Amino acid sequence: MSGNIGDSTPPGSDGPPLAKFAPAGYSLKLHDLELVKTLGAGSFARVVLVRTRNLEFKHPCVKPGALMAMKIIKKSVLPTEGVGNVGLLRYGEMVDNERNVLTRLPWHPFIAGHIAAFEDPLNLYHLLELLPCGNLRAHLKRYAPFDRELACFYFANVVSGLQFLHAHNIAHRDIKPENILLQQDGYVCIADFGHAAVYEVGKTVKARIGTPWYTAPEVIARARADAVDLPYTMDWWALGITLYEMVSGTLPFRVCNNGRPFDGSDPDDHNMPELFRLIETTGIVWCKEVIWYEHCIDIICGLLRKDPRHRLSATKFERSLLDHPWLANVNWKMMRTHTYDAPYLPLEPHHEHKWQTWYRPTQAEIPGLPIANVPPHKLYSDCFLPSPTYRIGT
Ligand SMILES: Nc1ncnc2c1ncn2[C@@H]1O[C@H](COP(=O)(O)OP(=O)(O)O)[C@@H](O)[C@H]1O
Ligand SMILES: [Mg+2]
Repeated sequence: MSGNIGDSTPPGSDGPPLAKFAPAGYSLKLHDLELVKTLGAGSFARVVLVRTRNLEFKHPCVKPGALMAMKIIKKSVLPTEGVGNVGLLRYGEMVDNERNVLTRLPWHPFIAGHIAAFEDPLNLYHLLELLPCGNLRAHLKRYAPFDRELACFYFANVVSGLQFLHAHNIAHRDIKPENILLQQDGYVCIADFGHAAVYEVGKTVKARIGTPWYTAPEVIARARADAVDLPYTMDWWALGITLYEMVSGTLPFRVCNNGRPFDGSDPDDHNMPELFRLIETTGIVWCKEVIWYEHCIDIICGLLRKDPRHRLSATKFERSLLDHPWLANVNWKMMRTHTYDAPYLPLEPHHEHKWQTWYRPTQAEIPGLPIANVPPHKLYSDCFLPSPTYRIGT
């Protein structure tokens, strides 16, 4: 059979017509997909669940009903001028970044895969591999502090993902629990490349502040001086902060948490100059409610060394982190191939579970992406009324 559209019945056959195939070179379009529900939201984007519609022909990659994630970024929240504090990227650069970085990366088990990018008059869209079990922040809110086994497992997953990114000359620059997503088999993936940077010979990259609590001291100093970034070191620092958070449920440098565990929602934690002063000049505050073990203290201290030249890391030439005694039980090859049973299997949220509480964008907000039909028993329910708190991109 030729593989072209139209030739659906084999010659001389009375059997049912074979499905038509997409024309050669056909690439998936935005209107081949439909929005099912909202999965999550970050500072700049809303991520929704999409599925392929019943196309008129078979797509070589995607079966009807296949589920994927779609990151939607409103064009109107992409100012052309710099914003806010020292060294922040322009939002437009961030979006380009995301596409540039993701499309150059081959698939990897610890990186959220990018499938395609689209746009319509109002929004930019990134079609992504679906990681349906929530992010590490939600998991921390429910279960922190994690036991050693779980913390070590997630930590090793992110180490493998970062090693891969750095080997491709990419720094993520916004490692934090919100950007680490759980997979169905209990492993985690690095997501959100909006702040990532590609370090190429002859190209300079300006230092910038990512999420303040996870920002490395050298980044603060260089962003303040409007200087060029040091490649990769900030990701190991941010991973050190994330590890501290996994084993204690709180942060090593915080301005004010009013005695409560850090959950990213305390407005008083936004005292940035004071926070940056602590990060640059003071030592780690070891949370008193946690029993700290020697190797765990040592690995966190190694990742949170103020001088990036002496920080633990893992590259092709540098194994100081991989050989650390806290990770002595990790077989890196088994980890990369997902051979281990994960210590915790997430309960996959049913895809339609939160239809009642999460705002689904209206068709006017996402003109290019069709919205799946509301099932008849929900048609008259108030829950589909737009809620002003959940507008895309706000
Ligand atoms: N591929 C994905 N699959 C499922 N959920 C996702 C996916 N990507 C992101 N999310 C959810 O959406 C949230 C925000 O996505 P993110 O890319 O971090 O947006 P932002 O750039 O605005 O921070 C994440 O914390 C996560 O809960
Ligand atoms: Mg994010």
